[in-house]
Amino acid sequence: MTVLVLNGPNLGRLGSREPDVYGSQDLVALTKQLGEAAPDGVSIEVRQTDDEGELIGWLHGAVDARTPVILNPAAFTHYSYGLRDAAAMVTKAGLPLIEVHISNPHARESFRHNSVISAVATGVIAGFGFDSYRLALDQIIRTIG
Ligand code: DQA
Repeated sequence: MTVLVLNGPNLGRLGSREPDVYGSQDLVALTKQLGEAAPDGVSIEVRQTDDEGELIGWLHGAVDARTPVILNPAAFTHYSYGLRDAAAMVTKAGLPLIEVHISNPHARESFRHNSVISAVATGVIAGFGFDSYRLALDQIIRTIG
């Protein structure tokens, strides 16, 4: 089984972007940590894009390949109905899609308090740094693995 770990805009800058909020580790470190946390037979594919259309296309691919998804939609969380509709296709296909955030958006600016994704996600994990992704992976393995 493959688990797709999809990351939206500006997350390619993890490590140098607002380390007080997002920590000082980058996506390479995230990939390593998730790979180590994954049990035998589960491979992790971490991707990042700043492009909304590309992210939507990856969700379409997840539906077609029947791949569980961990999604950090980054700023798209707060306004992208196109991404929401694509995320809904994943969960309506019976696949888990867990929305994750490194920070706790509810403890930040008010525009971050609303997620247009959460209502169509299987669940949401936020505020635990990179552990948000690991907790999501644990949950996917518990339900699917
Ligand atoms: C984020 C929170 C979002 O509000 C923000 O736009 C991001 C990262 C997080 O992981 O904490 O880019 O999704």
